[in-house]
Amino acid sequence: MKKVLVIGSGGREHALCEALSRSPQVGQIFCAPGNGGIADLAECLSDYLAGDFAGLADFVEAQSIDLTVVGPENPLVDGIVDYFQERGLSVFGPTKAGAQLEGSKAFCKDLMARHHVPTAGYRVFDEFDDAHGYLQSLDYYPVVLKADGLAAGKGVVICENREDALATITDMMEAKRFGEASTKVVVEEFLRGEEASVHAVTDGETLMIFPTAQDHKAVHDGDKGPNTGGMGAYSPAPIVEGPMLRKIERDILLPVLDGLRKLGIRYRGVLYAGLMITKGGPRVIEFNARFGDPETEVMLPRLKSDLYAILKAAADGKLSELDPPEFDERPCVGVVMASGGYPGPYAAGKPMYGLEDAGAQPDVTVFHAGTRLRDDGGLSTAGGRVVCVTARGDDFRDARDKAYGAVGRIRWEGAFYRTDIAHRAIGKQPV
Ligand code: AMP
Ligand code: GLY
Repeated sequence: MKKVLVIGSGGREHALCEALSRSPQVGQIFCAPGNGGIADLAECLSDYLAGDFAGLADFVEAQSIDLTVVGPENPLVDGIVDYFQERGLSVFGPTKAGAQLEGSKAFCKDLMARHHVPTAGYRVFDEFDDAHGYLQSLDYYPVVLKADGLAAGKGVVICENREDALATITDMMEAKRFGEASTKVVVEEFLRGEEASVHAVTDGETLMIFPTAQDHKAVHDGDKGPNTGGMGAYSPAPIVEGPMLRKIERDILLPVLDGLRKLGIRYRGVLYAGLMITKGGPRVIEFNARFGDPETEVMLPRLKSDLYAILKAAADGKLSELDPPEFDERPCVGVVMASGGYPGPYAAGKPMYGLEDAGAQPDVTVFHAGTRLRDDGGLSTAGGRVVCVTARGDDFRDARDKAYGAVGRIRWEGAFYRTDIAHRAIGKQPV
């Protein structure tokens, strides 16, 4: 039986561990550092940080682990895959060069421009005076300002007018609000439409498209309030199904993979396209080099095929040997429950109740994002996003009702959630 190590501690990693635990080949799962829910499925290595490449690789060697799956972007951008490969270890994720797709917005935009991939018009600036002058002369707003590097999902600012844009560029480039990440800034055309996420697993040659999904980034109902890591999601996303998905594969995913190959990068891992479906067709908002969170929590419960086989084949460059993956046709809806105050400051350590009851409901899986197992066996909150409560159903309404039914059974002081997850899909057919 195979042994797997998953790196990360969020809802995405819980969903990865859950899908891996369903693989007939997998005998043991480790997760570094893991969380209170992952502890039910995996041995959590709470002393290991994702940045401790040498410590993790030593552990993998000592335990003869067959595959390491990297969840979050930071270790990928910092080169964990290069390090593991140098040590001869099998690992799922792109190398540092490939992870630039997410780690540098300028790299990603330039790659797309060279290969005519539809995306928002843009300019890259590394001098404050040039950026300031450009924004001063611009006469169409809103405009989008993006820190080039990783900024924990917070490096994108939509500026409604010139005053706003000039203040933001000063904040980014002069005051270095995002540190090194904003020494370079991308100024981008504002796109209108509906957002959707398309994920593909690839070994650099073959693409395996996963179910489509849509997340809800804003903190409050009606997409109001500041952006978060994601307050809920559903899969599939009807807006990108059918012919639209084939167009996205042909016009976006394949040209990007080809572009990476032309740079000498054999990209193995997840290609995640964040898209805006505009009146003029799909446009790329961003690429990520890992699975989305919370999209993974609604995609993977639908996966009927062996996730271990897929990730291992991608890591080994053998994806073409696998049959196409099979997915449950029923949709899945996931509602994130968060700590009061999130995405601003929030309290942690709140005792949680009702999780077992919620998880025992038909078609429901509760993925933990920020929870901690206490010494007495109970669970406490340990993050902004605390759990993602997912449910499958016969249609979107059924899935949504089951998810909210389970949400109603979970309690802790200060818990809140959006009440309108999947509203765009309700009444639509899943495929
Ligand atoms: P990102 O971190 O690139 O995913 O951006 C965060 C969010 O900002 C996206 O999910 C969109 O809602 C919004 N956004 C980013 N770029 C654009 C754009 N060019 N036009 C409109 N909205 C955008
Ligand atoms: N759900 C958005 C992300 O994972 O980046």
